[in-house]
Amino acid sequence: MQLLKRTVFCGQVTNELLSTTVTLNGWVHRRRDHGGVIFVDLRDRSGLVQLVFDPSVNGTTAEAAHALRSEFVVAVQGTVVARSKEAINDKLSTGHIEVHITTLQILNKAAALPFQIDDEGAISEELRLKYRYLDLRRQNMHDNLKMRHEVIFAMRNYFHEQGFYEIETPILSKSTPGGARNFLVPSRSQPGSFYGLVESPQIYKQLLMVGGMERYFQIARCFRDEALRASRQPEFTQLDIEMAFIDEETIQTVCEGLYKILWKKFLNIELALPLKRYSFDDVFNRFGSDKPDMRFGLEIQDATAIFEKLELSFVKAAINAGGKAGCIVVKDQSFSRTDMDRWSDRVTKELGAKGLLWFKWREDGTIDSPVTKFLPADFLAQLQTVIPGLTKEDALFVVIGDYEDAWTVLGQLRLAFGRELRLIDNNSFELFWVTDFPMFEYDKESKKWVARHHQFTSPQAGWENQELKDVKARAYDLVCNGEELGGGSIRIHSAEVQSKIFDLLGMTREKAEEKFKFLLDAQTVGYPPEGGVAFGIDRLIMILTGTDAIRDVIAFPKTQNGSCLMMSSPSTVEDAQLRELQIKSTYIDPKAVAQKKAETTNAL
Ligand code: AMO
Repeated sequence: MQLLKRTVFCGQVTNELLSTTVTLNGWVHRRRDHGGVIFVDLRDRSGLVQLVFDPSVNGTTAEAAHALRSEFVVAVQGTVVARSKEAINDKLSTGHIEVHITTLQILNKAAALPFQIDDEGAISEELRLKYRYLDLRRQNMHDNLKMRHEVIFAMRNYFHEQGFYEIETPILSKSTPGGARNFLVPSRSQPGSFYGLVESPQIYKQLLMVGGMERYFQIARCFRDEALRASRQPEFTQLDIEMAFIDEETIQTVCEGLYKILWKKFLNIELALPLKRYSFDDVFNRFGSDKPDMRFGLEIQDATAIFEKLELSFVKAAINAGGKAGCIVVKDQSFSRTDMDRWSDRVTKELGAKGLLWFKWREDGTIDSPVTKFLPADFLAQLQTVIPGLTKEDALFVVIGDYEDAWTVLGQLRLAFGRELRLIDNNSFELFWVTDFPMFEYDKESKKWVARHHQFTSPQAGWENQELKDVKARAYDLVCNGEELGGGSIRIHSAEVQSKIFDLLGMTREKAEEKFKFLLDAQTVGYPPEGGVAFGIDRLIMILTGTDAIRDVIAFPKTQNGSCLMMSSPSTVEDAQLRELQIKSTYIDPKAVAQKKAETTNAL
């Protein structure tokens, strides 16, 4: 049987094709039997079209259509006919026509499915991931991946026009310290040695600048063996960019040009350029985050000057130890005492804060708070001197402690209020740069100073004479609606500065030589001033499609614990494979042990 090849996609059969013969290929989306006449919604990637198998048009074909079931794969040929008035469906692009079928080829059958493709309801994500090839047939997955393709296509176009080269860089790379944990790949030809999968093309793109490429971009796969959170995957895609002979302004301006195009094309929004720039200190102070969601207010306010005067020992102790009192004012919410206690409970349980103080005012102006008896009668008036606009209709939430910790908790509380009190307009997009990041941050776990962006980032002028905590980096992030869309920096191009930074990060000369000799060498042979940035494509598509699930914008994503449910990976391998690599696994699978034990017991 020769395949009836499509002449047109299902979704494109419209009035212009009335009375013509069309050939269609696709899947049976739905089938309805109306007393001998069979109606089928045929689906391909462009959409749906209604087929009619009518015995008065072709008896044999109509008879054969009785065998059709959901997801059968078919080719059909027929005539495009106008639907009767009552049968018009304005929701479909093909809703004014139907195709009266004369020929049917059943190309393949389909067994009963684990879930229905047209099921709009909630299907467990586990099932969707296990049968991803079926999940991909659903309209929203199709729309998301189509948009992803179009966004990447627009990126390639834009950077090509701007004179950038797309250059591929290795994925099998070297395991290096300082960034995310690398996935390791054992080398068979050099037993005992491992590649590290690239966490990003960072070093390669810097070396491309040394190599004189000047303007580079890449749609780059990155791999990070780190704890997975909502908008993270162990392998993800970046739009990676690097330019020589530039400063922050040049690279930011080039990127803004791209976002202007994307916002117009995919959101129909005219983006006003240049985008706003806020310093890290400013956004952290106002929002308790380096990637604030600016679609709503509830800015954090500092009321230390009032709280330090209270006769409350835990407050005094925290402020005397250098802490601060940060507040969030929620306007016009008639929170009950139970509501206030519930928020307080959540802040301690979910956000790990020591506590949340709350204050509200009764009709008669008296204060309602767990610490009422420690408050002066004019407490509201005192607060109003540092929180302008505070009224007795407002609820006030206060966290007291170390500035960074307290503000981080308040930042998260602010987001929870924003979401739960529905203060966020989901149709708005707040896109801006955050600049002047601290160069270093103290990692409480390892008790070491680490690079906040990465160790190749250039410090801002004057750094030699500053304490580590005060050094600022020539780094910038692009933030949208509370997500870090991208981050970049101007790089260190002097071997001397690079060695000093490695030093400050506690890397010995020997270790620096062992891990980064190629870079230190490159910095001595004509390394141009340069910088770049990388944007998370998965996160961008999430924003453009309005989903909050990163897995909905990736064809074959991993679960929260890094598994692929469809292929059951990661998986064990044959001993012979390990022997070839001269690797011995000492891991003992508890499930296998239990099974073995059960088998021996049963055998006895
Ligand atoms: P950074 O580590 O900030 O910078 O990454 C850049 C952007 O990549 C996205 N991203 C992720 N997306 C999904 N899953 C993940 N696990 C994940 N990790 C990061 C984010 C982030 O903003 N080489 C530097 C860039 C540079 O300096 O040029 C880098 O990789 O959107």
